[in-house]
Amino acid sequence: MLKALLFLAVALLAAFPACAGEALSVTFGDDTRSLTAEELLKRPDAATIEIADDVSYHKAMRYRAVPLVALIGKEAAERFETLEVRAADGFVSQIPMQLVAGAAQGGSVAWVAIEPPGEPWPPLPGKDASAGPFYVVWQNPERSKVGTELWPYQTVAISGMQSPAQRWPQIAVDDGLAADAPARRGQAVFVTQCMPCHRMKGGGAADIGPDLGAPMNPTQYLTPQGLRALIRNPKSVRTWPQQQMPGFTEKALSDSDLDAVIAYLGHMAAH
Ligand code: HEC
Repeated sequence: MLKALLFLAVALLAAFPACAGEALSVTFGDDTRSLTAEELLKRPDAATIEIADDVSYHKAMRYRAVPLVALIGKEAAERFETLEVRAADGFVSQIPMQLVAGAAQGGSVAWVAIEPPGEPWPPLPGKDASAGPFYVVWQNPERSKVGTELWPYQTVAISGMQSPAQRWPQIAVDDGLAADAPARRGQAVFVTQCMPCHRMKGGGAADIGPDLGAPMNPTQYLTPQGLRALIRNPKSVRTWPQQQMPGFTEKALSDSDLDAVIAYLGHMAAH
């Protein structure tokens, strides 16, 4: 009996290595750290925080969390323009370092929420897993206009990077475009709200949705009304069981941001 139980335990451990303690990988240049939930929860700056309107759970949530800015450190915050935050399903946020650093000037505050081992969070709406073990959340997201796609859940890795336009020059609009051109602002909207799932002409780090620049750009095969409708609510254009793209309500993407991102797509098709 004992032998059988032992065998079962070994078999279970082999089948679910993740149970042995998943870690968050944090990389800045040559320095990579692997942090477990236990280690993060023991930090003196770990705190209990309230998130009034959680983007993934659609309700108020309370978490144990550490300030993202503290995990980055001053030196790395000055050296890297962007934080690339990768989720287990291939979703990859590109978070501007300025946005994280803005907390010191009264802006939104980013935290890494940690699911306490043995006290799991509830499953995400419509999913069978929680947002854990690590989840990037924001307090007062309205202060710095933090987009809904900058809340990566099931986070596995955080890395310091150059800005997306430096890493992938093919995503940038023409240099000659006016500073206030909608397409230029649309590039910034694309980077925060669309690039976590889509690439542009190969530029980007995610593969959840199709490339929106190549081989063809959606402005070349969707009508302007169809494209707008698809971004606001993909299910209003077509539906199937495996459909994944979330709709962007006016709260998540204002009308002017929607115009800007469509201007960007149109510009990228021509250029
Ligand atoms: C969470 C991931 C995710 C985000 C964020 C996202 N999309 Fe998508 N998108 C998808 C996926 C996946 C598809 C493929 C269809 C599906 O499964 O819904 C898709 C399909 C599309 C299509 C249709 C392409 C085609 O030819 O079928 C367009 C256009 C599009 N997305 C535009 C956008 C724009 C613009 C944004 C940003 C405002 C955006 N998406 C943000 C995941 C995403």
